Amino acid sequence: MAEFHEKNALLFQKLKEVIDGKKQLQDPLIEILREAQEIFGYLPIEVQEFIAQEIRVPISKVYGVVTFYNFFSMIPRGKFIINVCMGTACYVKGSPRLLRMIEENVGCKLNETTEDKLFTIAAVRCVGACSLAPVFVIGEDTYGRIDSAKKVKEILDKYRKEA
Ligand code: FES
Repeated sequence: MAEFHEKNALLFQKLKEVIDGKKQLQDPLIEILREAQEIFGYLPIEVQEFIAQEIRVPISKVYGVVTFYNFFSMIPRGKFIINVCMGTACYVKGSPRLLRMIEENVGCKLNETTEDKLFTIAAVRCVGACSLAPVFVIGEDTYGRIDSAKKVKEILDKYRKEA
């Protein structure tokens, strides 16, 4: 934990300024977490503990809020988030297999980020494109009926080139 603080001293300083500016608000937690995520890119436990101490709330409360809202993330996020649909239609049509193909292609698991910070794999509920099942979504783009590792590679290579 100390090591994380040392490495990120400047970011903690910035966060402290944000907290000092918002401490007096009636319920500043969500607002502070939102800004903390902008500063750090994600909300590791060290950052949550720091916020809890500074605004004097139990760490369990901070953790509860972070895990409740899906726009908060406890893992570093990659440039592209690969959202694999795990809704019923996609599941039945093979999203677990699709997920495995994506994991193999990028070299990290669900809820992880690749070492080069290019991709994060996440699972989502139905994205409303069931007729294309199994589906995954990157940004605004939806990819459906993906049934081979070759197709996965073709799609992900586009993002690698863009990076
Ligand atoms: S279940 Fe995947 S798009 Fe609906």
